[in-house]
Amino acid sequence: MADIKRILAGMTVREKIGQLTQYNANLFVDTDAALTGGNASMGLSDEDLSKVGSVLNFKTPCEMRKIQEKHLRRDRNKIPMLFMMDVIHGFRTMYPIPLALGCSFDTDIVEKCSRMAAREAVAGGVQVTFTPMVDYIRDARWGRVMESAGEDALLNGIMGAAQVKAFQGEDLSAPDNIAACVKHFAGYGGVEAGREYNAVELSEHIMREHYLPAYKKCLDAGAEMIMPAFNTLSGVPSICNSRLMKTILKDEWDFNGIVISDYGAVLDIIRLGVAEDEKEAARLAFENGCDIEMCSPTYFHHLEELIDEGVFDAKRLDEAVLRILDLKNRLGLFEDPYRGASETEEPEIYLSAAHRDIARNAAEECAVLLKNDNILPFSCNVKKIALIGPFADNHKIIGVWSCNGKDEESVTIKQGIERLVPNAEIILEQGCGDEWDDADKSGFDSAVKAAAEADIVILCLGEPQDYSGEGNTRADISLHKIQCELAEAVSSANPNTAAVTFSGRPIVLTSLAKNVPAILHMWFPGTEGGAAAANLLFGKANPCGKLSVSFPELTGQCPIYYNHLPILRDREKGAHHPFCSNYIECESVPLYSFGHGLSYSNFIYEDLTLSKDEITAEETIDVEITVYNDSNTVGKETVMLYMRDVAASNARPVQQLIAFEKVPFGAHERKTIKFKVTEQMLRFWNNDNKFISEPGEFRLSTGYADHLILTKKFILK
Ligand code: NOJ
Repeated sequence: MADIKRILAGMTVREKIGQLTQYNANLFVDTDAALTGGNASMGLSDEDLSKVGSVLNFKTPCEMRKIQEKHLRRDRNKIPMLFMMDVIHGFRTMYPIPLALGCSFDTDIVEKCSRMAAREAVAGGVQVTFTPMVDYIRDARWGRVMESAGEDALLNGIMGAAQVKAFQGEDLSAPDNIAACVKHFAGYGGVEAGREYNAVELSEHIMREHYLPAYKKCLDAGAEMIMPAFNTLSGVPSICNSRLMKTILKDEWDFNGIVISDYGAVLDIIRLGVAEDEKEAARLAFENGCDIEMCSPTYFHHLEELIDEGVFDAKRLDEAVLRILDLKNRLGLFEDPYRGASETEEPEIYLSAAHRDIARNAAEECAVLLKNDNILPFSCNVKKIALIGPFADNHKIIGVWSCNGKDEESVTIKQGIERLVPNAEIILEQGCGDEWDDADKSGFDSAVKAAAEADIVILCLGEPQDYSGEGNTRADISLHKIQCELAEAVSSANPNTAAVTFSGRPIVLTSLAKNVPAILHMWFPGTEGGAAAANLLFGKANPCGKLSVSFPELTGQCPIYYNHLPILRDREKGAHHPFCSNYIECESVPLYSFGHGLSYSNFIYEDLTLSKDEITAEETIDVEITVYNDSNTVGKETVMLYMRDVAASNARPVQQLIAFEKVPFGAHERKTIKFKVTEQMLRFWNNDNKFISEPGEFRLSTGYADHLILTKKFILK
């Protein structure tokens, strides 16, 4: 290990500030000659760039090696640069998007995928990933819902923490572990109207109940870094929001890791009208604990001056630098600044058979069977298959945040089916396009003809992968009109039609659900997506995903989520009523709610028992749920335990997930799943911002959000 205190003692202030700055690789890759270009426009000298402490967005391991090698030649302190990247759902072998992973309810899957990504990322030259993103989400219009595990805080935190542990491992110096950066702190998922980078207004109560727990859980799991969000919260940009960054993060949570700004977010303080100029922006960011400034130069331009003026103590700068040197040290960079980065552009580990297996298995576990009127699984003996729709032979299913992944390396649905059912004849018809404004129906006739001639029809529909992710807000999340019309035409020609759908967010499938007997939602499943879909459609794999987010009936229902408060003057399904909380055009409930997901097995919830019907705060209740697989099909069921606090000093959600377990079942197997309920699980943030439970009646239920099958009550004394 390097003696970082000694290194620090020998550094100039400017060198220290360099450690607090991160830039894009393109500023460093040019030639061995002078570094020019982007740096000039930011008012940085070559000398400044030679001091920069970390890099993001480099392309290949060879590029990384070149940058590091050049840097070490120029830096008199020989402090290696830290290489960071957004490894969100895979590095080269892509696995399902995080929202899909949420539907697996399976931390083993998350762990396997993250370990695979870490191994590939290390070979690619990465040492830190900007993962996990655990922004709690409720509004599917926001493009970044794809990066989160969904609308439940418990699930979001569990999935985030599993990623942190898998990426970082027990010991950061181990060659295939990388550091994790949890993001975006905080409340980004609450952007008004789901519009990207918009303001966020959340009550302290809602923040603490739903938005904050997942970040905390990731920090408790040991995340080395945290990234403040772009958004304002109560009018103050997150990065300089002292309530967030100091009171909660440092004082309450005791976080002592590295805080890194989001891309250009220090300059956003000026754009948002909270700082007059760069100097004030630098002051606000640094004062509120931002250690690394990503892709803007305010620290380089003003931090030294602010220290000279006595605004900041030099000690404060040293503390920030030490945090960064310490991470570099624990990653083993002083011993090996290349840290496993391959010397070839295409390390063998990329897309290895073992990695493809992990990706395919994950895609199978994340897919959600939304509807099945006894038509799936299809038989592998089928003779003629009509494969119709814009996603039928489309490689663009790996998901938008694909790092080094390549669309063309993915298995399409067509390829997946060809491999699985080699003797069947496949008639391929695109039918229509997938853009929101596509109106060309010239492909309809041949699609309908193909459907009429085939034994079965597989309709492959959805929104393009670049309609989700950063900056991709949608005003209308319906499956595009032309695709709905194609589905109607095709299924009228052949009712033996199953739809396979793709999206990076919940989409409105109301029309499709009326027209087709089966819908298998694949999300964006990654490199092996088509193979996984084929296995699921033809029964080689049994769907077991459960929605981690609700699918609205109409976009206007957004935000819609299962854990809402009791609704005043709610009404049963049916026609609109005056003086009721309901919509004129649609129901008040989602089309498919959180927790929904079918299987080819037939799971029957037989019993829910509680060991006690009264407890004190010190006691626990043993809950047992008996589930029977009334079928010959081996399968998995995520058994969920929901809680309702019947009366409290705050209105409480109608349902709240407090525990879950994904359980494998053999044919006709009966299992009893056990949970323990403690007083802590009954707590909530009250009006005085205290996390408490209150005596009274509670209900425990199992099933899923809008479909609770068994309920029992107990009293907390
Ligand atoms: C902006 C995004 O908001 C953030 O999630 C990401 O990590 C950074 N850019 C770096 O790419």
